[in-house]
Amino acid sequence: MLEDKFGRRFHYLRLSITDVCNFKCNYCLPDGYACDSDRDFLTLPEIKTLVNGFASLGTSKIRITGGEPSLRKDLPEIIETCALAPNIQHVAMTSNGYKLESDIHKWVDAGLNSLNISIDSLDPRMFAAITGHNKLETILRGIDKAIALGVQVKVNAVLMKQYNEQELTHFLSWLKITPVTLRLIELMQTGDNQAFFNHNHVSGLPIKEQLLASGWGQLIRDKAAGPAQEFFHSDYQGKIGLIMPYSKDFCASCNRLRISATGKLHLCLFADQGLDIRPSLRAADSSELQTKLVELLGNKEATHWLQDGFTGATKHLAMLGG
Ligand code: 5AD
Ligand code: SF4
Repeated sequence: MLEDKFGRRFHYLRLSITDVCNFKCNYCLPDGYACDSDRDFLTLPEIKTLVNGFASLGTSKIRITGGEPSLRKDLPEIIETCALAPNIQHVAMTSNGYKLESDIHKWVDAGLNSLNISIDSLDPRMFAAITGHNKLETILRGIDKAIALGVQVKVNAVLMKQYNEQELTHFLSWLKITPVTLRLIELMQTGDNQAFFNHNHVSGLPIKEQLLASGWGQLIRDKAAGPAQEFFHSDYQGKIGLIMPYSKDFCASCNRLRISATGKLHLCLFADQGLDIRPSLRAADSSELQTKLVELLGNKEATHWLQDGFTGATKHLAMLGG
């Protein structure tokens, strides 16, 4: 089992398969994707070695992320490789949803269990202003399709003072009739978004208080469930999750490790650097990979230093998929 010196266990792998994204979210890639590094992304055989190595060390859940993962033509094969690895019980993916309506069948056939889709606003014009794409309607249709196919859907919304702070009521009425979990994520500072962060960061705590005061109950989650806090209400089909990386003890429940699209292990979203494990992947050497992972995990720190403005090597989250 992968365990660090603070007793945290890592059964959850977040695997980025590309850092390319076609959206221009204002907090992430406001000027769009800039091709400033080689696109030498992990190949399907390398992904197979990686996933099997992690699975042998106790990983049971994999989330495929990007950039935008659906920009890779071999995405169904990648999903299938994850789903077929021994011990992997859950394959999830985070996507901007732009290919959701057209491709969800292929992903489900390949073994996808759950999806996180980013929707920062339910107002089509605001959605377009945030992402640079007028795609809200097709994404919402895609979500309906995914639900009908039995996929668990979560919707990620990044809280931004100047864009969607007023939209909670709108999101709540949507949750009354829509069986998804809405995840409200506090905007995180990255290397590239400092001014935007300063203007737009809002804490999720007042929302938590508002929910608790209006009949929402907090779900007691499993110790291994990760850092989100979740809320339910019997009048609502949907649930709400709050992700508050600036709150106390956020990192105590960390249960995930990250691999970048070029095969670097990131012990934290905001680590100083990625640790290169590509040679073991190229050599398809699973036992060397496992030894290396255990050794590198020894250096995982107790927490990030975001509250002090240290964002590590993370210029934007398209590098690592959040
Ligand atoms: N702060 C918080 N969330 C972010 N995401 C991307 N960049 C940031 C940021 N700076 C979110 C996206 C997506 C998920 C992968 O991470 O909206 O839902
Ligand atoms: Fe693309 Fe996601 Fe970044 Fe938006 S947040 S630009 S969808 S990688």
